[in-house]
Parts: sequence; C-alpha cells; structure tokens
Amino acid sequence: MKPFSLIPLTLLAIGCQTTPDTPTLKEHFNDDFLIGAAINVPHVNGADPKADSIVTRHFNSIVAENCMKSEEIHPSEGVYHWDDADAFVKYGEERGMAIIGHTLIWHSQLAPWFAVDSTGSNVTPDVLKERMRDHITTIMTRYKGKIKGWDVVNEPILEDGSYRQSPFYEILGEEYIPLAFQYAAEADPDAELYINDYGMNAPAKRDAYVKLVNDMKAKGLRIDAIGMQGHMGMDYPDITEFEKSIEAFASTGANVMITEWDMSALPTISHSANISDSVVYNTQFNPYPNGLPSEISDKWNERMTAFLNLFKKHSDVITRVTAWGTQDGMSWKNDFPMKGRVEYPLLFDRNYNLKPFLMNELNTNELKYLTK
Ligand code: XIL
Repeated sequence: MKPFSLIPLTLLAIGCQTTPDTPTLKEHFNDDFLIGAAINVPHVNGADPKADSIVTRHFNSIVAENCMKSEEIHPSEGVYHWDDADAFVKYGEERGMAIIGHTLIWHSQLAPWFAVDSTGSNVTPDVLKERMRDHITTIMTRYKGKIKGWDVVNEPILEDGSYRQSPFYEILGEEYIPLAFQYAAEADPDAELYINDYGMNAPAKRDAYVKLVNDMKAKGLRIDAIGMQGHMGMDYPDITEFEKSIEAFASTGANVMITEWDMSALPTISHSANISDSVVYNTQFNPYPNGLPSEISDKWNERMTAFLNLFKKHSDVITRVTAWGTQDGMSWKNDFPMKGRVEYPLLFDRNYNLKPFLMNELNTNELKYLTK
C-alpha cells in the first residue's frame, strides 16, 4: 500500500518547492528510465537560471527544442549554423546528460531550400537523396560520440495510417524513411536511431508504425526506438489505446520512448500536434488566465499520475520519458494551436515548483523506504 497516495492532491499542491533533501526525479526514476526535458536556446544561454537549476538537478537527459531542426541548423544549402546546437551539446556534456538530437528529417520547420530547386520546383529523387545524405552525415558526424540518439524521421504517418504527403514523400515515396535510417546508421554507427510521432494511440497509426518498423528490420536496417511524443489533453489520448501502442511497438523489438510529454489542462481544440495548425484567438479556449482552479488541477494531476504509472509499468521497454519543456510559462502549448493561451502542461509550474503528482510520487517513494 502507498500511504501517501491517500492524501488529496490539493493538499500537496501547497508547498511543492523542492528542497535539497527532496529526492530528484533522475534519482527516483533511475531504475525505470531516463527522465528528460526539451530545452531552448535562451535556456542554454543562461536566460532562465531557475529553469537551469531545475534541469541540472532533476533531469539526466535533454533534447533540442528547436536548434537542430533543418531551418535552424542548415538554413541554406551547404550553410550550417552550428552555434546554438554546439552550445546545447556543450550544456548537456557539462552536466553528464544523455543528449538527444531532434530532428533530422521532418516536413515542419524544414529549411526552405531543402526539397526545391532554384525555380521552386521539387528536386529530382537523386538530388533529394544526396541532400538528405549530406544533411544527416554532416550533422551526425559533428556530434559523434556526444549525442546518444537521434529522432531520424519525425511525423511521417497520419492518424489513418497513411503516409504524410510531405516533400520527402512526394519526391521519394515510402523509401525516404529507410534511406534516412540507412544514412544515419552509416554516419554514426554508435548513435541510437529513433522514429517519432504524435497521436500514436490511434489504431491505424499504430499498425502502420508496427509494419514500418518490422519492414525496416527485415531489410536489415537498425531502428532503436519508437518515440511516442505524448502531447496530451484532458480528454485524449485514451490510456488503454496508448498502452496498446506501447505493447505493439515493443513487439517489434524496438524500445519505446515518451519523447515530448505535456498535457494541456485547457479545453481541447484539437488532438493533433501538427505545428502548422492554428486557430484564431477565442477567450472560450483560454479560461484560466489567472491560475488553474483546484478541481481542474486535481484532475490534471490524477491523469498525469495514471500515465506516469503506465510508463513505470512498462519501464522494461520504455527507456526515456522526456517532458517538452521545463516550467509551464515556457511551454509551446501557450501558443499552440491558439496564440496567447495560458497553459499548464508541464512538470513544473510558473513558480518552478514541481507539480503535485510528482511530489506525491517522490514522497510516496520516500515513505516506502522509511517503512522498509
Ligand atoms: C515545437 C516547439 O516547441 C516550438 O517552440 C516551435 O515553435 C514549434 O515546434 N512536435 C515536435 C516538436 O516534434 O519539434 C514541436 O516543437 C512540437 C510538436
């Protein structure tokens, strides 16, 4: 029995400041999985010292929120902008963290030159292959031995299981995914290689990924983990369907990672995490600009607990759980899919306090040790 779990979460909402005596998340989950956070360029450059102490103290893995996406790191053909990515990698190295690269091949935040020629028409398959190979090889070679694993391809499949009509797909067809994994494996045989997507609970999408990964393995290609982004809301995903996907993905022999965990506490606008979706501002969808009512906070914490327990239950195959940011104030969800919302989706609140569900998790564990 877990004695602390009987205490209502609202009580725990008071005084969630972690102290030097509070166990850290990375110690707590040490036997389960890596615990990570996405960090942005201002964070790396020291703009938010409190967030820096949280990340340094609690997390043993980081992922680049934006600075390794092609439009940032490779803005024109042959021109690489390394400063931000180098600083991100140095930040992780100084703290002995598992550093994750995000992301090599993705239709969003795609460098505008990547798939077109000087007239704006799609390049030929051979040209695109060469560009993909150069992009993947140049970036992975620079960070060889420093980056633990890469999101090689991001978001290639739609909810109905069909391929997304991205420029990569339009030009190369399904083959662009195995090709990307081949180039990545050649560039750094020691780096882990991941495929990553949102909405992974959808049955057709689940089946498509199982087939894709099995087909790639049958061709002798290496794929180390399937990343389930984990952008959630109060009414999605269905936890049973999410668990079915964890099990189905594990059946391929690949590991599973929760790569971009956050849970919107606001009314759901859309289940999609496609970053080009956007809706015009409407106050109805921004109901808690001055703070989350305790009943909503309780529900949010209960739901986060349920998912955390699911991740722990499957910690034999889940090797990393990464939150998409540190504290609520900096989450991308404040602007997605509607600009100007006040969101509460992350593991730490705007005062840098650990959310009640995690305080509960840490304290439960502490009491369990005391009663042993
Ligand atoms: C988001 C970043 O958090 C934002 O700062 C940026 O403006 C848009 O992209 N899925 C992904 C991430 O794989 O790269 C996205 O990150 C969120 C959805």
